[in-house]
Amino acid sequence: MAEQAAELLWWQRGVIYQIYPRSFVDSNGDGIGDLRGVLQRIDYLSETLGVDAIWLSPFYPSPMKDFGYDVAEYCDVDPIFGTLADFDELLAAAHARGLRVIIDFVPNHTSDQHPWFKESRSSRDNPKRNWYIWADPKPDGSPPNNWLSLFGGSAWEFDAHTGQYYLHSFLKEQPDLNWRNPEVKAAMFEVLRFWLRRGVDGFRVDVAHFLMKDPELRDNPPSAGGLALYKPMGEYDTQIHLYDKGHPDNHALYREFRAVLDEFEPISPRMAVGEIHIADWQEWASYYGEHNDELHMPFNFALINAPWRADVVREVVENVERVLNRGQQPNYVFGNHDEPRIASRIGERAARACMLLLLTLRGTPTMYYGDEIGMVNGDIPPELAQDPWGKNVPGLGLGRDPERTPMQWDSSPNAGFAPAGVRTWLPVNPDYLTRNVAAQLADPRSMLNLTRALLKLRRESPALHSGGYRTLSGDSHVYAFERSAGAQRFMIAINFTAEPRQVALPSGGTLVISTEMDRADERVGEQLSLRPYEAVIVRA
Ligand code: GLC
Ligand code: CA
Repeated sequence: MAEQAAELLWWQRGVIYQIYPRSFVDSNGDGIGDLRGVLQRIDYLSETLGVDAIWLSPFYPSPMKDFGYDVAEYCDVDPIFGTLADFDELLAAAHARGLRVIIDFVPNHTSDQHPWFKESRSSRDNPKRNWYIWADPKPDGSPPNNWLSLFGGSAWEFDAHTGQYYLHSFLKEQPDLNWRNPEVKAAMFEVLRFWLRRGVDGFRVDVAHFLMKDPELRDNPPSAGGLALYKPMGEYDTQIHLYDKGHPDNHALYREFRAVLDEFEPISPRMAVGEIHIADWQEWASYYGEHNDELHMPFNFALINAPWRADVVREVVENVERVLNRGQQPNYVFGNHDEPRIASRIGERAARACMLLLLTLRGTPTMYYGDEIGMVNGDIPPELAQDPWGKNVPGLGLGRDPERTPMQWDSSPNAGFAPAGVRTWLPVNPDYLTRNVAAQLADPRSMLNLTRALLKLRRESPALHSGGYRTLSGDSHVYAFERSAGAQRFMIAINFTAEPRQVALPSGGTLVISTEMDRADERVGEQLSLRPYEAVIVRA
């Protein structure tokens, strides 16, 4: 059924572009990207590319043990990234161009250097003791239960000074906050208000489903086999994570969280998208809230590690269409700062088809910086490795440095990311000499120009940004669907294979965009031919 475009809000119609600030543009030559760097490229985002919103990964003061996901102060900017004034300037420049700004909210844990944790660990009767999750050792001195850190080893760290363990679902330098303590909740909601008052348009909520855990701290049961929920994670996969995250009390919490955002709704519509890795569709969708009063969206990661196959993708999309009600906005993601680059995972030609898919599905697309030029995984020599996950749990390819290499702007030394001669925090991928924004802008058939054309068509076309969805066909090779609003109708067909394929469409039409950028305006009949890995949009 066609939906009415006028009802949709910016985050429902629009396209989100994720910026990992360390890796976007280094404005001051220290080898690390920063907020003024983003400001320098603001017209690239709003004009050249034409996205609707940017999501900035954390830029808060941090010891950078997890590159900013260990926050030592929620209401400030780390000097590496700039100042609060720089942030305000960036926000104003974005808003002046109609670009929305989503920031990362990291509620599950702070840095162990956060003043709250320093107080908490100072003594058992400190007023902030109960702001974190402390528990007594077992009689034999071992950790309170069997919970594991996602980044390797026990989730408990012993504090000799006070004789108790504290919980850390991630690094030991990232102690988990105790969200069952009303003071923590109040303080964290004030953090939201601090940024909402400054004018941010929304939040990406880090590991949103981790906040509430079993209050009795029961042992997780063993898992029979690999979980295959996400990616093989070593020892972490030996348990069913029944008690250490995903507690039903999360829902009441997110209703309160939502109410904080809603306080600002009369000024302008705000949104929150949660990082939620849950394989069960019903449970995943429950984070929208029974009355759509929790997170505006839980990120949909179902396609991020799914095999590149027409039937698999079709099934995911149909599940989303089936499970969500009318007020629940779908969304799709193919890459972020935690996942291998899509072009490396499925190949460069398929990555073009993937971009076409992402930008034509019904729902909010989130793109990852660099995917618009088809950036591939960086090859990071072990001595230059940065990511603590890869270092703590070696041998499984869990390190996330390859997808965090500097953005490739042009063919000058350091790819236009940082001044020549500067040592960048991660090495620039040597393919920057040919794969860069400037070179691709000059090539009419480049991935960047394909992405720009897709973004432009999506923005101009109610059928694409707000219309209804209908599957046309989908065997294991070709997937075709329709998007429509009123009289406007597009048919999208994607060849997932390395061979030429035919697909039957319900009607002929005019080809608007091919991933090869060479078939515009071609008249096509009901039998459409697709080249290997080609995807097309046909206007009926
Ligand atoms: C999320 C972030 C990841 C971070 C982790 C711990 O998964 O995306 O980068 O390491 O949370 O905060
Ligand atoms: Ca810098």
